[in-house]
Amino acid sequence: MSAQTAPDAVVILISGRGSNMRALIEHSLAADSPYRVSGVLADRPAGGLEVARDFGISTQILAPHTTDRAAYERELAAAVGALSPALVALAGFMRVLSAPFVQAFEGRIMNIHPSLLPRYAGLHTHRRVLAAHDAEHGATVHFVTETLDAGPAILQSRVAVMPGDSEAELAARVLETEHRMYFRAVRWFCEHRLTCAGGRAWFDGRALSAPLQLADVGK
Ligand code: GAR
Repeated sequence: MSAQTAPDAVVILISGRGSNMRALIEHSLAADSPYRVSGVLADRPAGGLEVARDFGISTQILAPHTTDRAAYERELAAAVGALSPALVALAGFMRVLSAPFVQAFEGRIMNIHPSLLPRYAGLHTHRRVLAAHDAEHGATVHFVTETLDAGPAILQSRVAVMPGDSEAELAARVLETEHRMYFRAVRWFCEHRLTCAGGRAWFDGRALSAPLQLADVGK
């Protein structure tokens, strides 16, 4: 970002405590950040909303009030669109988004998921990793498409599963890496180093055949 360029607006969607949201906000406060968080929306009275407000960021709850999922997604898209985001960042947003939302922000939605995608899409990833006796676990930042947790992967972290790990212990170690990785992908996108096109993630002009690894790009 040059000194004259205004940072890109990023809107964050949450459902819970918002620790990834907090990390994104904190990194946005850096003097050289190419993005700022212009709003946080939740589908329920999420704990993270208070955190966002403490940073002076506008918040909104848009709870589904109808069983018509498409209608809800159109409302959500309108509320997010009113904040004119360059990027929509899902951070623990526990609702599957489909065509009405995804098409409104095509190529401009990211998610962070607590597994080494394509392994363990969906819920209870830490529990499933322990049940499978996997040696390795991690998290993935990916672009969002209409297929759950299957959009182009951008960046992955890896953690070893330790003997005797509880679900909570493993989740905490993965979460610690999440806080060090999501902002990197958001920065790259807002610096125009990262795009989503033709069903692929592109980084510095080349299509990624495999996600970047946190160990290679930062501490
Ligand atoms: C994070 O571990 C995130 O990866 C996960 O929810 C947690 C939210 O924590 N997201 C998903 O499972 C999405 N499928 P946070 O509210 O503290 O950021």
